[in-house]
This record gives sequence, C-alpha cells and structure tokens, in this order.
Amino acid sequence: MTRTACSPPASTSSPPDRTHSLSGPRPAAKMYSVHNSSDPYIIRPGRPADVDRCAALNDAVHPYPGISEWTRDLFDGHPAVRPDDFLVAEPAGGGEIVATLVGIRQEWTFGGNRLPVVQVELVGTDHDHRGRRLVGRLFHELHARCAADGTALQVIEGIPYYYRRFGYEYALHIGGAPDVQAEAIRQPPPSSGVAARPVLRPATPADATALARVDRTVAGRDVLACARDERGWLHEISGHRHDSLVRRVVMVLLDDSGEVTGYLVHGRRLEPDGRLTVLAAVCADPGGWPRLTPAMSRHLAEAGAAAASADRPFTSLRLRLPATHPLARA
Ligand SMILES: CC(C)(COP(=O)(O)OP(=O)(O)OC[C@H]1O[C@@H](n2cnc3c(N)ncnc32)[C@H](O)[C@@H]1OP(=O)(O)O)[C@@H](O)C(=O)NCCC(=O)NCCS
Repeated sequence: MTRTACSPPASTSSPPDRTHSLSGPRPAAKMYSVHNSSDPYIIRPGRPADVDRCAALNDAVHPYPGISEWTRDLFDGHPAVRPDDFLVAEPAGGGEIVATLVGIRQEWTFGGNRLPVVQVELVGTDHDHRGRRLVGRLFHELHARCAADGTALQVIEGIPYYYRRFGYEYALHIGGAPDVQAEAIRQPPPSSGVAARPVLRPATPADATALARVDRTVAGRDVLACARDERGWLHEISGHRHDSLVRRVVMVLLDDSGEVTGYLVHGRRLEPDGRLTVLAAVCADPGGWPRLTPAMSRHLAEAGAAAASADRPFTSLRLRLPATHPLARA
C-alpha cells in the first residue's frame, strides 16, 4: 500500500507512529451535532464501554492481526489517547457501532515551534453500512473538535487519494529507502576472539528517560520532528497488549561507554510478503553510525530469520526510513 501523509487544509506533515503524552486538561468536547430525528445515525465521541464493539468492528474491517488489541491499547492505557478521542457512528436506535475512527494526539515541532497534531487511525465502516457517507461525517466532527481546541494539523496514512474528499492533501513523503533483500544484508564478519562491547540490546522500561532525551536531542536539530516523551517511550516499550499490531521490538543503541545513544524499532512479525519493517533508527550522535550499523544489520538479519516460518520466509527489510539514512546505505 502506498503511504500517504495528508493534512487539511494544507501544510506539512511528519514521521508517523510517535505519540506524545497528554499534558494538562483538555477542553470538553462540545461541538457534536444535535441529532435530527430523521437521521438514521448518531455520531458521538467514544466512551469506555464502547471498547469491545470498536475492537470487534476494527477486527472485522481491517485485515491485520492484532487490530482489536491495538484498539484496546488506545482505549485503555495509552498516554496520548482517551476513549473520547474515538468517534463512533451508531444507528439512532442504539446498539452496534457501525463506523469509527480515532485521533491520536501528538506534539511535533516545526522550526522549533510547537505544533499540535492529530494523527487519524483506524478508519472503518461495517460492510452493511458502507456508502452512506459515515466516514465523511466522522471526519467532519473530528475537524470541528480540532478547530475548537486549536489543533491546526491532522495527518493520515492510508488509502491513496481517498482522503482528499475530506480536504486532505499529500504533504510528506514517508520512508523512501529501497527494500534490502534478505540475502543482501551486510553483516560484519564474526568477531575475532576478544569479546566486543555490545552495541545494542533490547530496551527496558528503565531506558524510557534516556530515549526521551535522545528524541529531544534529535528534535533540536531537525526542522520537523515528533519527539516521544518518557511516558510515550514507556508505553512503546512495555505498554502494548501482547498481540497488539503495534507492539514492536525496541532496541537501544549504546555508545562506547555503554550509555544509550539511540534506538532501533522494528516489527515483531513479518508482513505477508515476508518483509520485516524497520520503523525507526535514530542516533543522538550522527558520528556514531559507522560503529552502530554493522551490528544493527546483523540484528535485523537475525530478527528476520527468527520471525520466518515455512510458509512465510524472510524476504527483505522494508526500511521506513529516508533513502539517505545510514542504515539504508550500510
Ligand atoms: C474505506 C471505508 C472506511 C469507507 O467507508 P464508507 O462509510 O463506505 O465511506 P463513505 O460512505 O464516506 O464513502 C464511500 C466512498 O468511498 C469509496 N471507497 C471505499 N473504499 C475505497 C477504497 N479502498 N479506495 C478508494 N475509494 C474507496 C467508495 O467507492 C465510495 O465512493 P463514491 O462516493 O464515489 O461512491 C470502508 O470501505 C472500510 O471500512 N474499508 C475497510 C477498512 C479501510 O480500508 N479503512 C481505511 C484504512 S486507511
């Protein structure tokens, strides 16, 4: 699927998948339409009790394993999302939820300026209720909410061109590095005798502070950035449900003295075509890459092989990184 990042009415966009914790109270949602009695549907914010129905709907309409667990992550325990960040459509008589989406709050910086952003995810309509403009109505309410609370930018990845009908425009290229075939992954020769210092290891919750520091450092030098804070990293490392679609492998990268200097984030499972997705590879010290990339390549080759099965061999790395990223040139 082509990745598209869009924003209404127009502006910039960002790397996805980075959430920023909620900070401070949010204004109560107060812009929901008064229900017209001839309208067969009600559009309303999500409530905690909607979790099972939203999870079931998302599971039915999105063809990925771990969707319902991700929905549950977002309803309960996510640092940047509350149940009322979901919008749902239900028949006026109540009962089932027939369409939904969720807005994940993030804080980006653009040229050093704070930029509140909502990333839209999990857009779906039950098969029996499609073609009734429910998605347009959900977006209408989302945009009204964002206008009311001063969130100028909404972004979405997804069906190419589809979201233009709701005012979105292509704004940012995501990724762009070519895939690396599994057999072409360059790995360092086996070490000769002396045990080398480890260069990367699995992240633990104790690394959250250091990883937030890495993101702040990197955000300070990039024009457009989306830094995770400590709570965001804690959630990323240990907050997802076990089978959640977005529970990923987080590795910390270590400098010569064993301090955390960056991170590598990749999928836990292979995609249906056998690709292992690399979502982020960040180092606070750009001079550290030559030392780090051979070990990262070895790790990714091993992770891909470990995730493979007889009916799904490991084919390649899918690098959601810029083509100029050091890992793409390793
Ligand atoms: C895409 C989806 C959310 C649309 O829901 P919906 O409530 O029927 O949407 P609307 O009634 O507002 O719009 C229907 C229009 O969208 C179009 N549409 C639906 N799926 C589409 C797709 N994959 N690509 C392009 N257009 C699509 C329909 O053809 C229809 O077009 P028309 O107005 O010219 O007749 C729904 O089909 C769905 O849940 N699909 C599976 C999940 C999914 O792909 N979600 C989006 C992930 S980014």
